[in-house]
Amino acid sequence: MRTQVGIVGGGPEGLLLARLLGRAGIECIALERRTPEYLRARIRAGLLEQGTVDILTQAGVGDRLARERLIHDGLEIAFDGKRHRIDLKALSGKVVTIYGQAEVQKDLMDAHDAMGTEIVYEADDVSLHGLTSDTPRLRYSKGGQTHEITCDFIAGCDGFHGVSRQAIPQDVVRIYERVYPFGWLGMLSDTTPVNHELIYTNHERGFALCTMRSLTRSRYYLQVSADEDVDDWSDDRFWTELRRRIPADAAAVLQTGPSLEKSVAPLRSFVAEPLRYGRLFLAGDSAHIVPPTGAKGLNLAVTDVRFLTEALVAFYKSGQSDLLDGYSDRCLARVWKAQRFSWWMTNLTHRFPEALPFERRAQGAELAYLVGSKAAQTALAENYVGLPLG
Ligand code: FAD
Ligand code: DHB
Repeated sequence: MRTQVGIVGGGPEGLLLARLLGRAGIECIALERRTPEYLRARIRAGLLEQGTVDILTQAGVGDRLARERLIHDGLEIAFDGKRHRIDLKALSGKVVTIYGQAEVQKDLMDAHDAMGTEIVYEADDVSLHGLTSDTPRLRYSKGGQTHEITCDFIAGCDGFHGVSRQAIPQDVVRIYERVYPFGWLGMLSDTTPVNHELIYTNHERGFALCTMRSLTRSRYYLQVSADEDVDDWSDDRFWTELRRRIPADAAAVLQTGPSLEKSVAPLRSFVAEPLRYGRLFLAGDSAHIVPPTGAKGLNLAVTDVRFLTEALVAFYKSGQSDLLDGYSDRCLARVWKAQRFSWWMTNLTHRFPEALPFERRAQGAELAYLVGSKAAQTALAENYVGLPLG
């Protein structure tokens, strides 16, 4: 088989790239190891920056998003039992969108089904070959048969645990990493969200986040230890713990109900540089991970895809390779700003088991400074809604 761009991974990045390339008349094949049913049900991110909404709309998958999304003008930060609103719109001129990643995934899959894009689901043993040649190859097995695709370029959109980054010789990649000593336990339920905007709470028992997927579907997260077993958390235990952490006026109106999903995610900051090796380009979580606190992971990955699409379109339409050559640096400039923000927001809102009394007091002072300073709130707001593309 032959194609122009071979894509590893059929998550939101792989499918968005396939969609943008397809609409630009560039051939591609995407290999995804999971089933379509699994992908449609996978619960992850919930908050989209306006830049992400814009590119999804340009990709022709913005209709249901425009109808069903919730627009948030602000958020709340809570500590010492009190809630403080940060007016994102007044401070930055921009708003954010609540629309689940599972919905983005479904919209992209439906659009590809209609367009007839070649997406191979349940592709096993994907491997990458000849990356420094002009004809890199993807090999995979399906239904007991091995297949090979010869490509002009390969896009590694296979997430943190994928094979693309591993295909780069270790001596040419620089890894920057911080693993946090806790994780997030997430729970989804068909209950009315406790507040019409998100509440990020710093509490002595640990961080809690109240978010949502719709006006009738809540999503809550609790800081737990990194090796927490989700089976130890009954619904009752989750609701009791959440009620203890969030401010009393919110706890008083918290609606509880059976969970639809519960899972634990570890928290990590990670960057692999550069994002290119020969004809392989990494995009999204395959190259970088942020702790979820700043809601940046999916948004950052979408920007990589946007830059990669521009570079590939310039190459195929006018033979220009300068955007391909500049791809890694262009992404990294933005990635590091999002890393800094996500790390800062995690430090601000979480309880670190090893924190010195000094650090705990300094964290309290940082929170007090934030809610008392328009300058500090503006800095939070402009990062949270998404920095300009640059
Ligand atoms: P993935 O979604 O991981 O997709 C990679 C795909 O590649 C998968 O479908 C996988 O099955 C496939 N794959 C892997 N290995 C192989 C292989 N060997 N062969 C073939 N296919 C393979 N981000 C935000 O922007 N906003 C938020 O509000 C937010 N909240 C979050 C909350 C939580 C609890 C978590 C865990 C994450 C959150 N994120 C958020 C981050 C966001 O979910 C990720 O950044 C996003 O999924 C990255 O997309 P991706 O396509 O790069 O990777
Ligand atoms: C969601 C997740 C986040 O990490 C965040 O900061 C905001 C929202 C969510 O799942 O809705």
